[in-house]
Amino acid sequence: MIRHVVLFRFEDSFTPAIEHDWRAGLDGLVGHVPGLRSLSVGRDLSGQARSWDCTIVADFDTAADVAGYAGHPLHTPLIALSSPHTRQIASVDFDVPEPATTHAEQRKGRVHGKIAIVTGGSGDLGSACVRLLAREGAVVVSLDVTPPAEPWHEPGITSLELDITDPEQVERAVARVLETVGVPDILVNAAGIIGRAAPSHESTLAEFDRIFNVNVKGTWLMTKYVVPAMIAASRGSIVNFSSIHGITGGRSVPLYHATKGAVRLLTKSDAATYGEHGIRVNSIHPGSMNTRMSRTAADMSAVGPEAYYRQLVEGNPLRRQGEPDEIAYGVLYLASDESRFSTGSELVIDGGYTAV
Ligand SMILES: NC(=O)c1ccc[n+]([C@@H]2O[C@H](COP(=O)([O-])OP(=O)(O)OC[C@H]3O[C@@H](n4cnc5c(N)ncnc54)[C@H](O)[C@@H]3O)[C@@H](O)[C@H]2O)c1
Repeated sequence: MIRHVVLFRFEDSFTPAIEHDWRAGLDGLVGHVPGLRSLSVGRDLSGQARSWDCTIVADFDTAADVAGYAGHPLHTPLIALSSPHTRQIASVDFDVPEPATTHAEQRKGRVHGKIAIVTGGSGDLGSACVRLLAREGAVVVSLDVTPPAEPWHEPGITSLELDITDPEQVERAVARVLETVGVPDILVNAAGIIGRAAPSHESTLAEFDRIFNVNVKGTWLMTKYVVPAMIAASRGSIVNFSSIHGITGGRSVPLYHATKGAVRLLTKSDAATYGEHGIRVNSIHPGSMNTRMSRTAADMSAVGPEAYYRQLVEGNPLRRQGEPDEIAYGVLYLASDESRFSTGSELVIDGGYTAV
């Protein structure tokens, strides 16, 4: 930026009325002179009653803009207005560095300005998604049956408590988001439970109902109540948490596999239905993650935690568990416009578990 500073001396005939017109004329230059960002006038530097010194400080984009200003048709008559009693005493141009902008200011987030709902937002994977979406510029509402373990440090996050298996609570929570935050662009269905390890014939009816209620009915209820607003807005991205256990079977938690398989196909079916409304629906399939749920699964396993862990990780191309952020980045991609041609797809993030 070029700061153009001019010092004028006005002699006695420069009356307050002339000064008023002159100042008003100069103010009017902003918006008419190319490259002129701002202009201010300071006066009476000399302190003498009949001889006023005034400074004009004008900020321009470039040095060429300063030259254009001097010859501007609006500028010249203003200088002539006070002539012959006006003398320009000095003029100097400074090259002023632009104020430093932070990296965050320069870079708009990948979901900047979007509104996101994340269920299971107090959990290990859900909370990683909440934080990352907020860091990338979204306003995020975290929904969970339990409050977050610690306060959110990122701006733009609200927490609401609800049980996603209860239609009335879901309907109320979605209505509240619509009223107070706006139409969600993004719905992340991360809430889920793994249930007790038991073969099908030893599982109880209550266990069956419970795990299907949370993992399948909860995902469906959230979709049911959020989608009408997305249809009205002709946009939306829904990310449903399935699992590698929604792709392959396994001995330990068959009901969990069944629910995650159901989520996988609910996703594809909803993708088929809502595509014409501009709504994309994709599923994400985490492998073994470094989370409480994974530790619970290992503890419950009939073969013991060590063997369970080895079985999930040892044969993988990447021989380790995943970290929550590694899933959150997948959710961010599916939630953002970067994935605008993806719908009904399965994003597997599992260290290669299902590849070999
Ligand atoms: N952790 C893993 O290794 C792993 C692997 C594959 C898939 N997943 C899936 O990822 C999702 C998140 O898993 P996580 O590891 O963060 O688990 P987590 O247990 O840390 O979080 C799940 C969250 O869901 C919430 N929740 C449970 N029932 C609810 C209900 N009725 N209403 C509202 N909220 C409810 C819980 O309170 C919890 O905060 C789940 O759907 C899970 O099945 C996890």
